[in-house]
Amino acid sequence: MRLVILDDYNLASEWAAKYIRNRIIQFKPSANNFFTLGLPTGSTPYGCYQKLIEYYRCGELSFKFVKTFNMDEYVGLPRAHPESYHSYMWNNFFKYIDIDPANAHILDGNAEDLEAECKSYERKIAEAGGIHLFVGGIGPDGHIAFNEPGSSLVSRTRVKTLAKDTIVANARFFGNDLSKVPTMALTVGVGTVMDAKEVMIVITGAHKAFALYKAIEEGVNHMWTVSAFQQHPHTIFVCDEDATLELRVKTVKYFKGLMHVHNKLVDPVLSVKDK
Ligand code: PGA
Repeated sequence: MRLVILDDYNLASEWAAKYIRNRIIQFKPSANNFFTLGLPTGSTPYGCYQKLIEYYRCGELSFKFVKTFNMDEYVGLPRAHPESYHSYMWNNFFKYIDIDPANAHILDGNAEDLEAECKSYERKIAEAGGIHLFVGGIGPDGHIAFNEPGSSLVSRTRVKTLAKDTIVANARFFGNDLSKVPTMALTVGVGTVMDAKEVMIVITGAHKAFALYKAIEEGVNHMWTVSAFQQHPHTIFVCDEDATLELRVKTVKYFKGLMHVHNKLVDPVLSVKDK
């Protein structure tokens, strides 16, 4: 497990974006060999998407041979609703890059048969050859995607009822009106994300500090589903200083001492433009 600590949200977002950029470029995706990326929504990845758009615009990076699978979507919220995750992804990322819309997969929370939709999503991920890099965020209660406290750590894509804490946290996107926040979602499972070759989880802000502590300093526990990634062979937690507030000084010093090694992972590599 790696823990990468940056000074603030902007630097953490940039580090995460550079890591994604490098992974895609190093993979050398082509028409016969797509790079497969798992993606989150929310306020955390916004800065990272902004940076990726910048790398695309300056010709460093292309998404032509990238397939994406989003982590989750609300149930019953119209696709065109400004707070649907379809809207989020298109308005904040996809419409600015060269991804083929057919390759950008998002669960359909309005499907007639929600269970069949979840099964078909797992099938599509398998048909794409699995996920190379799953990028995620977490909630203050340690949920990854919508795998709320108590979710099975081997869960697959399914329908979930959202925890009260998540509904309250999401109310800010619905005019702080709790009655407008959807109470159910489709989400990939912890097991779905664990199957990815690599997982990068971005955690920023003091309100996530306790969750980061539970994620890395205590044992694997289904009440803090993000802690499952301690058992993944390639997990990177990218966080800002504020998110480290509940960690031991010793832990922070140890990982900060490794920054010169971690920073090599985001050194510029040969880009699309240079080819
Ligand atoms: P946030 O949400 O990035 O908006 O904090 C993350 C989550 O709840 O999974």
